[in-house]
Parts: sequence; C-alpha cells; structure tokens
Amino acid sequence: MTRIFDALKKSEASRQGAGLPAPSVTPMPSPVPHVAAGARPMGAVRASAEPFRSPVPLVGGLDLNEDVIREMTALRVSVESVLQGPMRSVLFVSPQGGEGTTTVALQFAQVLARDSSIRPMMLDAHVRRPAYSVDPSQRMAMLDPRLSGKNAAASVVPNLFALPPSEELLRGGVFQPAALRQLLDTATAGFDWVLLDGPPVLESPDSASLASQVDGVILVVQAGRTKRPVLTRAADLLRKAGARVLGSVLNRRVLEIPEFIYRRI
Ligand SMILES: Nc1ncnc2c1ncn2[C@@H]1O[C@H](COP(=O)(O)OP(=O)(O)O)[C@@H](O)[C@H]1O
Ligand SMILES: [Mg+2]
Repeated sequence: MTRIFDALKKSEASRQGAGLPAPSVTPMPSPVPHVAAGARPMGAVRASAEPFRSPVPLVGGLDLNEDVIREMTALRVSVESVLQGPMRSVLFVSPQGGEGTTTVALQFAQVLARDSSIRPMMLDAHVRRPAYSVDPSQRMAMLDPRLSGKNAAASVVPNLFALPPSEELLRGGVFQPAALRQLLDTATAGFDWVLLDGPPVLESPDSASLASQVDGVILVVQAGRTKRPVLTRAADLLRKAGARVLGSVLNRRVLEIPEFIYRRI
C-alpha cells in the first residue's frame, strides 16, 4: 500500500485574493520511513484551562517517508505565505469520514515538529470519534493504535503536543464554538501552530462552526472516492460559515505508472 497524496492549491484565491500557490508541485509519491523516538521537553506545559485539559506530549505518531515530508513541507510553505500571524490555527476536515483527515493533519504536524524552531500542537476536534486519548497518568496523549505507525507506535513524537477532547466535550458530543474560542485563547498559548483535526463537513455541523473560528481550513479528499460535487458542497458549506478555505489535499492517490518513472516526467 502506498501513502500517496498531492498538495493542491485550490479555491479561495480568486475570491479572497489569497491562497496557496498554484500546484507547481506535481503528483508526488510516498514510501515509508519514520519519526524518531524520545521526548524533547518543551518547557512547562501550560496550566490547565478548565474545563479543558492542557496539551500533552503525543505518543504514537505516523511513520513518515521522504515524499510525505516533502509534500508537507511544500504545504507548510504555502500556508505560511497566506497566514502570516505569529500563531496559525488550521483546521483539517474532509467532506466525509474516513478520507484521511487525521492522517494528513498528523503528517503535517509531525513534519512541522521536525523543525525545532516551531511549536506545533494537535487539537482533536472530532468529539464523536476522537483519534487521541489521554493515558491513565493524564500526562500523555495516545494516538488511536489503529492509526499509529508500526515504528512510531510506542514513541513520543518529539516536539509535538496534542490535546485530546475533554470528558466534558466527549459527554456533550458537540464542539460548541464558545468551547473552541476558549481553547484557542488559553490552552494553545505558547504554540505557534495549532492544527485541528475536525469532523467530516457533511456529517457534523461542528465542522462549519469550528471552521469559522480558525485562520484557515484545508480540505482532505480521498482520491477516487469523493466526487467533485461532494467536494464543492463541502467547500461551499465551509465558506458560507465564514471559513477561509486554503486548499485541498488529495489523499491516497494511486499512481498508474511506477513511482521512479513518475518522478522523471
Ligand atoms: N495515505 C494513506 N495511506 C494509507 N492509509 C491511509 C492513508 N490515509 C488514511 N489511511 C487510512 O484510512 C483510514 C481512515 O483514515 P483517517 O485518517 O482516520 O480518516 P478520517 O480522519 O478522515 O476519518 C485509517 O485506517 C488510515 O490509516
Ligand atoms: Mg479522523
């Protein structure tokens, strides 16, 4: 199986006069290395902003490979060119569940975390199907073992913190806009990238309301599954809610010719 995706520029540029640069990046493939182990302390984790938890180190990232790193680095550059504040909040969502939101958001976060000058955190905003949970000691965030890479499963991802949903959010099953505002104002202090892993746009009303409160939104779309009208409907819903849709990532694209040839075209 390959983990293949494209970072594609999309949409909003014409509407808002800004956006991710055009896809000079052509389709890129992906094999699979991994993230090293070993926690790197990042100073004191901020005191809890009740009723929410504080971000904690993340255990069990994904196995990365060179192509993922290259694509996500290109995506970072694109987002940075559009969002220039000292703290960027970016929501990753898909039109439907299972398209790869959690995977792509985490790949992006892990690639950011490789740069020691950056302080990224993941905020799990999918309260009906969270990908992160806290361990019994409450001092670590654990990625859902179904997702974590074989090589990264037992390791702390250096320089990456995560905030699983609080019990309160899990009980309520809804991520109210006020709750996100409070989180963005408090628990995220000290981080310069806040990456939200959100629920599917067409399946949860939370998505649009979360989208309206972050700096930008990236739509993750599974290649060969989601049809253009579905993608358009999701993007329209987000825009109507006031979101700034920065672009889309095509996940799980399958190359029809061998990768080494593809790269030379
Ligand atoms: N590029 C990829 N290559 C291989 N498997 C993938 C890829 N993206 C997602 N998956 C797998 O697909 C399933 C759904 O992905 P996930 O990121 O949880 O989607 P979502 O968050 O949109 O529901 C998971 O089992 C995940 O490991
Ligand atoms: Mg998910």
